[in-house]
Amino acid sequence: MDSIQNPFSPGAGSPPSDLVGRDQVLRQAQILFGRVKQGKSEKSLLLTGLRGVGKTVLLNAMSREAERLGYETIFVEAHEDKTLALLLAPRLRNLLYKLDRMEGAKDKIKRALAVLKGFVGSIKLTFQDLPIGIDLEPEKGSADSGDLEIDLPELLMAVAEAAQSRGVAVAILIDEIQYFGEKELSALIMSMHRMQQRQLPLILLGAGLPILPRLAGESKSYAERLFAFPPIGPLEPEDARKALQDPVSALGVRYETDALEEMVKLTQGYPYFLQEWGYQTWSQAESSPITLDVVRGARSAITQRLDENFFRVRFDRLTPAEKLFLRGMAEVGSQACRIGDLAELLQVKVGSLSPRRAALIHKGMIYSPSHGDLDFTVPLFGEFMRRQIPAFPPK
Ligand SMILES: Nc1ncnc2c1ncn2[C@@H]1O[C@H](COP(=O)(O)OP(=O)(O)O)[C@@H](O)[C@H]1O
Ligand SMILES: [Mg+2]
Repeated sequence: MDSIQNPFSPGAGSPPSDLVGRDQVLRQAQILFGRVKQGKSEKSLLLTGLRGVGKTVLLNAMSREAERLGYETIFVEAHEDKTLALLLAPRLRNLLYKLDRMEGAKDKIKRALAVLKGFVGSIKLTFQDLPIGIDLEPEKGSADSGDLEIDLPELLMAVAEAAQSRGVAVAILIDEIQYFGEKELSALIMSMHRMQQRQLPLILLGAGLPILPRLAGESKSYAERLFAFPPIGPLEPEDARKALQDPVSALGVRYETDALEEMVKLTQGYPYFLQEWGYQTWSQAESSPITLDVVRGARSAITQRLDENFFRVRFDRLTPAEKLFLRGMAEVGSQACRIGDLAELLQVKVGSLSPRRAALIHKGMIYSPSHGDLDFTVPLFGEFMRRQIPAFPPK
């Protein structure tokens, strides 16, 4: 069939032609936008889920919706090795410049710029290739203590007050939020606490791996009052069928029922897998309807593509010992793996696994759904590990 017309788009952050099964969480975002614009308080949103479930795509959809409703948006993607301050400062400066160009009194905006300058100075950001270039004296004593948990709330308050003075609401969207350290997450939480107390028009929408456990302890109940954590998971079978069928129907193509059911079963409803199956079966079919034979025939090519483009991301950066750790997890079982069971399997002490465990969490390969448990951040990753290292223990 016509490759140019292929309606599927497998790929990190690639928008699907139909965003299926997410109406409820999109509605939740709309309510948040609407309420905060009217000066009412509402919980910010942190979308949590495994890789490939569609968090980035949702965050982008929410960003567009916020803009449609008149919000100024800032969208950043966290990295393993870039600080929150470094990511946010230039974007906040651009926002303040934009506010500065609007009609009206400038004092709040000038103040926010001066606070930002102090903030940048105190954290010794080196904008080597990106001069901060704010032509103002920094405001002494605001957001310049060097302690992010004090400074970020002060800075964001100044920004929110500047926006409020222009009748503008601000949405900060942060993807891959799990990469931030505890101090940075805590600084964000404290900032949102201040926003809510003062009912200022600045909200946070985040997406990332399930990080609630990392907000545990003291800050947890506090975080739960400020944030909703809608879990983003695989699509229900009915939505999975829709995610395959609707895009092809629009082009006059259909699947035979058993072909559709087979794909729903094999993908387990995970959006990334649905896109890849849709894409490849479209490519390989001669004509409509797409049959079970086409689905079966496409399987090995799809597995290979997923291995290369989805599972292998970040995999080649792992050490042999880290790969063995992951292979061991696959051996322990499909559900969350207890670290004690893994130690037993690998015939080592639990304590000796800690550095590897920490490194794999840092690299975004695994996470801890609850204390003492570990799971892969990528769905069906255990099967990939078995394909990579078939024998256990490896020869
Ligand atoms: N609701 C959905 N329906 C169909 N496909 C989707 C949906 N959400 C995401 N996808 C597809 O899934 C893939 C992964 O989406 P992405 O947003 O990158 O996931 P994540 O950020 O959770 O890793 C993309 O190819 C995207 O087109
Ligand atoms: Mg993503």
